[in-house]
Amino acid sequence: MSKVTVVGAGNVGATCANVLVTTQVADEVVLLDIKEGVSEGKAMDIMQTASILGLNTRLKGVTNDYAATEGSDVVVITSGIPRKPGMTREELIGVNAGIVKSVTENVLAHSPNAIIVCVSNPMDTMTYLIHKVTNLPKNRIIGMGGALDSSRFKYFLSQALGANATEVEGIVIGGHGDTTMIPLTRFAAYRGIPASTLMSAEELEKVAADTMVGGATLTKLLGTSAWYAPGAAAAQVVAAVLGDQKKLISCSALLDGEYGEKDLCIGVPCILGRNGIEKIVEFNLNDEEKALFHKSAEAVHKTNAALA
Ligand code: LAC
Repeated sequence: MSKVTVVGAGNVGATCANVLVTTQVADEVVLLDIKEGVSEGKAMDIMQTASILGLNTRLKGVTNDYAATEGSDVVVITSGIPRKPGMTREELIGVNAGIVKSVTENVLAHSPNAIIVCVSNPMDTMTYLIHKVTNLPKNRIIGMGGALDSSRFKYFLSQALGANATEVEGIVIGGHGDTTMIPLTRFAAYRGIPASTLMSAEELEKVAADTMVGGATLTKLLGTSAWYAPGAAAAQVVAAVLGDQKKLISCSALLDGEYGEKDLCIGVPCILGRNGIEKIVEFNLNDEEKALFHKSAEAVHKTNAALA
């Protein structure tokens, strides 16, 4: 029996629950929100697709009833306010820090062994906050930003190449921010063929630039922050953990010297399995990438300092 709780039945949380149910990753999913009736309504709507799609995962919506989340294997935290057009993710810190702290405490009171997946923004800082609040072993807290940013990178790469998105490779490391994320263009590839040999340097730079403002572009178009890819990226992280998939996914992890940084959570390539972040994969960045990563880490440290 596997059980997942998704806290926050807003667009991202509900999409995550929907992907978890439609991909039948867990036996049971609980969707919790503080707003009366919202999670019950969204869960009922999603479960009404079960007979159409042939789904066996059970989804239950609850209003602030943490007892219903008891014994969850993985808990996804999406709580907090989303950004509006023109806002940075970092501007959400004041409100979201208080929410994420109390949600984390409630969650762990009922699922002391859960692996926690943090989605709330500013995502790297909220992941770090969860570490500070809980003192859990670092493998058990995963920030999902890099999974999302990498999927956007692959989307823009596939568009530029006219390729199927499942056949391109691209990884984004660094902070989950418009100016802090680092799409590693040097390693972008199409079926193993370096993307740099298939498009001009300018085209590849445009793919990277579009990736970096990928969230902001959608926020501007939609009037609020995106949800389909963020929800699916969180579900991808859950699936990798529950299925012990050993997948290499860029996630925000607590660093202790890896890539020359420590005492912060930031996007790095992680092997995800049943124990959460089972390994941080380190490889040689070139001088330019190293400098970008260090600059990104400095920016994340600065946002973290606002937690105090
Ligand atoms: C985004 C938000 C979820 O990148 O951070 O769309």
